[in-house]
Amino acid sequence: MIKKLVNPLDLSIQEYQHLFETGKTIYESPQNFTQLANSKILATLFYEPSTRTRMSFESAMFRLGGKVLSMADTSSSSVAKGESLADTIKTISNYVDIIVIRHPKDGSAEVAVKYSSVPVINAGDGAHHHPTQTLTDLFTLYMYRGKVSNNSFGFCGDLKYGRTVHSLITTLARYPEVNYYLISPEELQLPQHIKNSVLEVNPEATFNETSQMEEVLPNLDVLYMTRIQRERFFNEDDYLRLKDTFILDKNKVNMMKKDALIMHPLPRVSEITYEVDDDPRAIYFEQAKLGMYIRMALISLMLGLNTNR
Ligand code: NCD
Repeated sequence: MIKKLVNPLDLSIQEYQHLFETGKTIYESPQNFTQLANSKILATLFYEPSTRTRMSFESAMFRLGGKVLSMADTSSSSVAKGESLADTIKTISNYVDIIVIRHPKDGSAEVAVKYSSVPVINAGDGAHHHPTQTLTDLFTLYMYRGKVSNNSFGFCGDLKYGRTVHSLITTLARYPEVNYYLISPEELQLPQHIKNSVLEVNPEATFNETSQMEEVLPNLDVLYMTRIQRERFFNEDDYLRLKDTFILDKNKVNMMKKDALIMHPLPRVSEITYEVDDDPRAIYFEQAKLGMYIRMALISLMLGLNTNR
């Protein structure tokens, strides 16, 4: 039984592959899975705003026939009275079979694991990790390309605070023939500790760093855009100075390979213009849809449910 998914490397590469295959089966015949999680309850505990992650988890659980308890707004719970995360988790894990938690502090999901009697899924802890977004991203590649390996990835935007980027870059290190292009302003470069975790998994990995997206766009198989994250800045002036550094518009998309993929964990602010949405290479809304199916596979795996149909 898998007790936690806090860091994307908590699951093996074989477990990822199993999840992609299960996710695809569920995507193709969801009617076969509508009773799978009957009588099971999932809790979503969100201490930070969310649209896709929380609702896709909840929809995933409902589509498996399970039930959901949701704490989406901490102002209406005992958190507002000063209850500690440890006490909240100890209590809630008596009520449910699995917990999904998002929290603004790095490391909080690991704290939740410590106090929970049921499996815990990290839905984003500060600027640290967001493993189910990585599952979504890799599942999208699996569905579009049939594989994750042999790709040149460009990561663009806030590579310093972007937890989706940290998790995806770390996990890609396990796959062969992956090239990293890191596109960011100097202030928002990928932290050294993330580079180190990549090098631990793959000592051969190299990083091409640039602040000019035009330079590298023609090389990319996948462009992973991210927003500059206002809520993680200490200083509003820095945010305002950096927020529009990279804007992907039609002209820039025309510089990319004909079969490249443009991904984004969403929400988008201004970093991709709306005209790009119509380009067949822009797959971010499909990516958000696939996130629900891979979460159905993940919930099933972590609850120990038999998905062989
Ligand atoms: C991301 C997150 O919360 O880290 N959103 C998401 O879960 N899809 C990215 C972001 O907020 O910019």
